[in-house]
Amino acid sequence: MCGIVAYIGNREAAPILLEGLKRLEYRGYDSAGVAILDGGMKIARTVGRVAKLEQRIEELGGYNGTLGIAHTRWATHGAVTERNAHPHRDDEKLGHGITVIHNGIIENHTALRTWLTSHGHLFKSETDTEVLAHLIGHLYEGDLLAAVQKALRQVTGAYAIAVICPAEKNTLVVARKGSPLIVGVGDDEYVVASDGSAIVAHTRQAFMLADGCIAKLSRESFNTVTLDDVPVTPEVRELDIDLAQIELSGFDHYMLKEIHEQPDALRTTLRGRVDSSTGEIVLGGLAGFERELKRVRRIVLMGQGTALHACMVGRMMFEELAKIHSEHDFASEFRYRNPIVEEGTLTIFVSQSGETADSIAALHEAKRRGAMTLGFVNVVGSSISRETDAGVYLRVGPEIGVASTKAFTGQVMVAAMVALWMGRRRYLSTETVTNYLRALESVPSAIERTLQLGDHIKQATSRYVDRENWLFLGRGVNYPVALEGALKLKEISYIHAEGMPAAEMKHGPIALIDEGMPVVFIATRNSQYEKVLSNIEEVRSRGGHVIAVATEGDDHVASLAKETFFVPDLPEPLQPLVTVVPLQLLAYHAAVMRGKDVDKPRNLAKSVTVE
Ligand code: G6P
Repeated sequence: MCGIVAYIGNREAAPILLEGLKRLEYRGYDSAGVAILDGGMKIARTVGRVAKLEQRIEELGGYNGTLGIAHTRWATHGAVTERNAHPHRDDEKLGHGITVIHNGIIENHTALRTWLTSHGHLFKSETDTEVLAHLIGHLYEGDLLAAVQKALRQVTGAYAIAVICPAEKNTLVVARKGSPLIVGVGDDEYVVASDGSAIVAHTRQAFMLADGCIAKLSRESFNTVTLDDVPVTPEVRELDIDLAQIELSGFDHYMLKEIHEQPDALRTTLRGRVDSSTGEIVLGGLAGFERELKRVRRIVLMGQGTALHACMVGRMMFEELAKIHSEHDFASEFRYRNPIVEEGTLTIFVSQSGETADSIAALHEAKRRGAMTLGFVNVVGSSISRETDAGVYLRVGPEIGVASTKAFTGQVMVAAMVALWMGRRRYLSTETVTNYLRALESVPSAIERTLQLGDHIKQATSRYVDRENWLFLGRGVNYPVALEGALKLKEISYIHAEGMPAAEMKHGPIALIDEGMPVVFIATRNSQYEKVLSNIEEVRSRGGHVIAVATEGDDHVASLAKETFFVPDLPEPLQPLVTVVPLQLLAYHAAVMRGKDVDKPRNLAKSVTVE
């Protein structure tokens, strides 16, 4: 996982690198480090947050220098210790002070370590990255670019790296394969980072380094080549991020800001794409694929975490609205089975970042088996968006809080649009489509109304925040919402929570229910309403305390529940777009009340770029 940032130019590198690391901290935050060419190579590393690293550098008297690299880590190989924190350098005696930061995994690091050890190298950490630093050092003959090229030809795995060495004071070498790496192009300076948020304060001009390529940056110019030295011309574009989008703007946490951004974010998702007055749906990303999409007979939606929950909702939408046999799968599981991909199979990859390693691996597998591939992705230009045949962007803006919120509703909204788009081309009448589009257009204001429940949800949460076990139950389209509500609660407040189909509770989990146990039901009016009511009674009669998400005006559910969060009514397949919102707020308030770091929960990272 990890976030990397590098700078070469004429300004002091340290503040730019530290600021960049803070922006990237969501990618991993168990330790951090920086290396700056300040006469010689100065390296500082700390366990903990970037603020601690900043303090350490201050204690060391500050680092001057206009070339440097920095890293925030989410441990994969080796424990969370200062020794294992990046940057890593090559062998103390045999090396050249070559210093490396790395995001990804070097898969053949054990073999390389054995080989290098047999050539006298002494390793100081347990990381795969240090092996890479030693290998580059071993191959260095006065040309850093050539040494990195040679080393990477011997490496298998995924990486985004930045490399500097004391003998080349005007050279920053960066390379990537599988992990993201963006090069910001300024005036006589370059800022390189895992994503645009660490760059945009300095320049808006940037390019994503092509996969399998390497770039040599000096203060005056740059060139990019493949590992075999074939020149590649990158396409420099404007970064699609506003600084205001990545600031807290008065909110205490990014998660709360992003929950509140949902109405506007979803308006942007819909803008120019749907028109309820004509029943028209225009999805530029699918243009040219009408014929293939019409022939689809089976859909497999894949993702991980919250994105998988959106896949589950999407699957029901495709069945309901487009009448196409649909399934969802963990991307990580699909890849390692022997998945059947017969003709007419469409695979859809759902991802906020577009960089989740498991999802990318499943995408490669699907392509290898000849499936058509679509991406429902937020980050423009990310790996999944580039490698899929076609797709639809979420357009919800940067999501920084580790717990995904607006990306989920964006993913569900996109799934609804695509399901209606496909349904329209099959059997849905203009009238039905028009009705659904009208409902979709009402979602942003429905969420606005739901957000007004903030204080009520906070108070209700305070009454249960000390309980260590929670159940989240829903049926049909609200079953994935139950899973998402449980995931939100456990990932940021560390409360144990389980989500499941409400009917499944009777087959075991009901044994958990004791006096006062909080059981959250999504009990909106829809085809399964009556059945959910029965499940509520089953919980009540065993002493469980029901917290319900119900349709506005439903006094009956309110009379059964200890707490009720009312949401506006929507057609059944679209209900998750509002029913999830109270659960996002509940999880948020529980985490704040428990004093947890909402935006950076322990052990997690936003973008999981390792399998
Ligand atoms: C991580 C994040 C989750 C996210 C999942 C998939 O586990 O913590 O919030 O849902 O990855 O990420 P993606 O970027 O593919 O949506």
